[in-house]
Amino acid sequence: MLSETLAGLDLLTSSVVVLDANGRIQYANAAAQEILKASIKSLAGQRLSELFLNGQELQKLFDQALESQFSDKRQDLILERVGLEPLQVQMSFTVLDNPQIPVLIEFSENVQQIKQDREERILDHSQENKELIRNLAHEIKNPLGGIRGAAQLLELELPERDAKELREYTQVIIKEADRLQTLVDRLLAPHRIPHIVGDVNIHEVCERVRSLIMAEFSHGLTIQRDFDLSIPDFRGDLEQLIQSVLNIAHNAAQALSERIERGDAEMIFKTRIVRQVTIAKIRYKLALELHIIDNGPGISADMVDRIFFPLVSGREGGSGLGLTLAQTFIQQHLGVIECESRPGYTDFRVLIPLP
Ligand SMILES: Nc1ncnc2c1ncn2[C@@H]1O[C@H](COP(=O)(O)OP(=O)(O)O)[C@@H](O)[C@H]1O
Ligand SMILES: [Mg+2]
Repeated sequence: MLSETLAGLDLLTSSVVVLDANGRIQYANAAAQEILKASIKSLAGQRLSELFLNGQELQKLFDQALESQFSDKRQDLILERVGLEPLQVQMSFTVLDNPQIPVLIEFSENVQQIKQDREERILDHSQENKELIRNLAHEIKNPLGGIRGAAQLLELELPERDAKELREYTQVIIKEADRLQTLVDRLLAPHRIPHIVGDVNIHEVCERVRSLIMAEFSHGLTIQRDFDLSIPDFRGDLEQLIQSVLNIAHNAAQALSERIERGDAEMIFKTRIVRQVTIAKIRYKLALELHIIDNGPGISADMVDRIFFPLVSGREGGSGLGLTLAQTFIQQHLGVIECESRPGYTDFRVLIPLP
C-alpha cells in the first residue's frame, strides 16, 4: 500500500527516503539506493542516522522534524561512512501528515557546489590577501632600514667601558631587524620573481620534489607515484611549480614526523586528467590534477579553511607562508590548490588548466 503510493518517487533524479517515527527507513527511491550504495531490501528497517559514523546531527534534525519544530528545512551535511567516501549532501526535511511515515528527506549530492564555493572563497580572499600583504610588507620595510641603521650608529657611539654589555642590546636590534627584513622580502617575493615560462611536464615537477623530500627524509617515508603519463606538457614556470609542490609536500612530510619515526609514513603523488572543470569561475575543457596525499594526522576543521592565508601556521616556528606562496604560484598558472583532510588522510589537489 505504502510502496504503491511512493512508487512514483523512483522516477525522480534526486534521492528520497521516508522514515517512520523511529527514524527507520520505510522507503528509499532508486536514486537514494544508488547514493547510499545499498538496496531497499538492506535499507528497509534500518535507522538512517545509523548508516553514518556521524549521524547525530542527522538524528537531531529528524527529532526536530518529528516534534514539528519546522515543517520544511534545508541543511548541508557531510556524512561519514565506513569504507566509503564521505557523502556531501544538501538535505531537505519535510514533515508529512502521516503517522506511519512522518518524515520525508530529500537529498542531493552537491560535491561540485561545495567544492566550487570553497574554491571561490579561497580565491576571493587571496586577492585581498595579496593586497594586504604587499602594503603591510612595504610599511614594515621602510622604517626597518632606519631602525637597523640607528642601532649600528648607536653601537659605534657606545662608551668604551660599557661597550661589550650594551652591544648585546644593539645586536639584538640589528638581528631582529634582519630577521624581519628576510620575512618581508619573502612576503614581497612572489610579486617580484620574474616569470620564466617554458614547456613544463608535471611529472618532472613531481620527480624533482620527490627527490628533494627523499633526500631530507630518507628513512621511514615512502612516496608512491600514481601517474597518468598521457598528461601533455603545458606552458609554465618550472621553478615556481616545483616550489609550490615542494611547499605542499614539505608540510606533509613535517606532519608525518611521528609516522616517519615509526616507519610507516606514506605519501602519494597522483596525477590525472580532468575534463570540464571550473577554476576561478572560468570553465576549462581540460585540466591536470595533481594530488599530494599523506597519511598523517590531518588538519583540524577550524584550521583547514585558513591554511592558505598568510602567517597562518600550526607549527612551532612556522612562517605560515608556504601555502600562501604555493597558492599564489599556482594561481599564476590560472589554477588553484584545494585541500581535503581527515585524520589519516590529507589530500592537497593542485588543478592547472591544460591547453
Ligand atoms: N599535509 C598536512 N598535514 C597536516 N597539517 C598540514 C599539512 N599541510 C599544511 N598543514 C598545516 O598548515 C599550516 C600552514 O602551512 P604553511 O603555509 O606551509 O606554513 P608553515 O609550514 O610555515 O606552518 C602548517 O603549519 C600545518 O599546521
Ligand atoms: Mg610549510
